[in-house]
Amino acid sequence: MSAPATERLTVAIGDHEYALHLGAGGLVGELGRLWAPRAAGTGVLLAHDGNVADLARRAAAALRAEGLDVSEVAVEPGERSKSLSEVERLCRAAASAGLRRDDAIVAVGGGVVGDLVGYVAASYQRGVRLVHVPTTLLAMVDSAIGGKTGVDLPEGKNYVGAIWQPELVLMDVGALETLSARELACGFAEVVKYGLLSGEELFSVVERWPELPGPGDELIGLIRRCVEHKLDVVAQDERDLGIRASLNLGHTIGHGIEAAGGYDLYHHGEAISLGLLAALRIAEHVCGLPGQWRERTVVVLERHGLPTRLSDTIATDEITAAMGRDKKADASSLNMVLLDAPGSIRLRQNPPRDLILDAIEELRS
Ligand code: GLY
Repeated sequence: MSAPATERLTVAIGDHEYALHLGAGGLVGELGRLWAPRAAGTGVLLAHDGNVADLARRAAAALRAEGLDVSEVAVEPGERSKSLSEVERLCRAAASAGLRRDDAIVAVGGGVVGDLVGYVAASYQRGVRLVHVPTTLLAMVDSAIGGKTGVDLPEGKNYVGAIWQPELVLMDVGALETLSARELACGFAEVVKYGLLSGEELFSVVERWPELPGPGDELIGLIRRCVEHKLDVVAQDERDLGIRASLNLGHTIGHGIEAAGGYDLYHHGEAISLGLLAALRIAEHVCGLPGQWRERTVVVLERHGLPTRLSDTIATDEITAAMGRDKKADASSLNMVLLDAPGSIRLRQNPPRDLILDAIEELRS
């Protein structure tokens, strides 16, 4: 039997260079071997999503096998854990484990755990080393890479945060086998986003994707292509002052839908599914994007169980109000990512309000 494929990327962002390992089931057992040689302090706080306790145990064992002193703490799954009270709890867990500035924090989980634990690593004793072990498709292709960390306030999502790059990222696609169909589909919405951002070639691979998660080696290749796209953009604009905004395709209206639904009616990827379609609709009017791209996007989203029709239980003015509160909106403008064609990106401030309202209404038909 041939060995499962494992890929190693070298990530260079600003002054930071680190390795990203991507492989099939069993890679998490290699965490200690792949990382420990670079470790400075030997203290580690490993914080994990309660849903992936087995995988976290294997990660902790792999680190202990290299002589590291690992304390473990579980985080309740769900967006509610992205809170300042959880930041305090985890910082205090780090303190009671005796973590010092040259020690490290390891995040094992999806987007919530990665964002929360990443922010704890950025803040505890003004910053300690960080390792990400993303366990959802969404975290692998998006949230665990690029350095964004943060938690929510009642006033808005990700209102408190920092850019903090990890020193290692390890993606074991075996972790995806534990995900529900809904969670896999949510991650796939971000994959569709990368298809549209990258260009026709990747879009056609995404369009032909038969089922989730999909065959191991091909899945690794698909994740790698999304990751490479994101890292290329982040390397140009780590602080999110320009081109990095393109990664928010579908997120301006998507975040409005997610917030207006109370973060419950639609999970993040589902809201992004709807947000992508609304953005493509606006792009048809503003940039002349041919209508075939929205039609083809509807087909691929529906094939994987993502919503393409907006619930009538959410009013359009609730969505636009939430969009105004979104962190991505400046004091005076609404920023949208549009396309002339897949791979040809236009950042546009304040598209006409009527077009936004029409695009949201169109999602109901
Ligand atoms: N998820 C968008 C970014 O990292 O910039």
